[in-house]
Amino acid sequence: MIEIKNLAKEFISSNSRKEVLNNLNFKINKGKIYGIIGPSGAGKSTILNILAGLIKPDNGEVFVEGENIIELDNNQLRSYQKNIGMVFQDYNLLSNLTVLQNIALPLKLAKVKKEVREQEARKVLEFVNLSEEENSYPSQLSGGMKQRVAIARAIITKPKILLLDEVTSALDQETANVIIKLLKKINYDLGITILLVSHDLLTVKKLCEYVFVLNDGKIVDELELTSDEILGSFNYRKELGVSDA
Ligand SMILES: Nc1ncnc2c1ncn2[C@@H]1O[C@H](COP(=O)(O)OP(=O)(O)O)[C@@H](O)[C@H]1O
Ligand SMILES: [Mg+2]
Repeated sequence: MIEIKNLAKEFISSNSRKEVLNNLNFKINKGKIYGIIGPSGAGKSTILNILAGLIKPDNGEVFVEGENIIELDNNQLRSYQKNIGMVFQDYNLLSNLTVLQNIALPLKLAKVKKEVREQEARKVLEFVNLSEEENSYPSQLSGGMKQRVAIARAIITKPKILLLDEVTSALDQETANVIIKLLKKINYDLGITILLVSHDLLTVKKLCEYVFVLNDGKIVDELELTSDEILGSFNYRKELGVSDA
């Protein structure tokens, strides 16, 4: 479904040059849950932004269902982006809109009629178990509820792939578990492929079927999280400077 080939990206500022991704390669199959783990600053968000078509790499190819998205023109990119849902650590909700309006926003931007988009928003609101909050404003919600609203907004357009950037990192463990359960339900019930990037080993271990370990701009290891043996060998904490979960 997705194949990343020889991806490279550096950021240049007036007095420095930082090579973030360097010869990055990995593949993602449809319908599965993947994680990329690595310490802060490793380039995880950069990878998601490239996959979402928000930034261009300096080098390399990103094939999504056979099409190299790096070569798309603006119109093609916009239609590609309809298949992508994205969720961030800090929710990115609009404070002046209600929960229902926040969730319906992608459909409003797509010029879907008000009654249809509200009907769809209520469906996803029910899916994330927040129906009673439809008229609340984000400031009235807990962190976990805000994240469920952000997830609902990301799935309302029925994306094929959901990109998750540290979505549990600001939450306590109990709340993170609720989000993890919801993401599993989204994958299982809706068949949406999930790619989560995180420095939080516990979330990755609980959610992901496959894990890529990112270090020095490349994937240094690839694990299938099925057996205790593999979980036991998950000893990247020291090497990557990731703190204990
Ligand atoms: N737009 C940018 N301009 C300059 N440097 C950036 C930019 N975006 C990211 N970086 C740098 O690239 C590195 C990787 O960033 P990021 O992808 O956000 O890492 P992660 O998500 O793994 O913490 C960091 O050192 C960060 O400071
Ligand atoms: Mg990041």
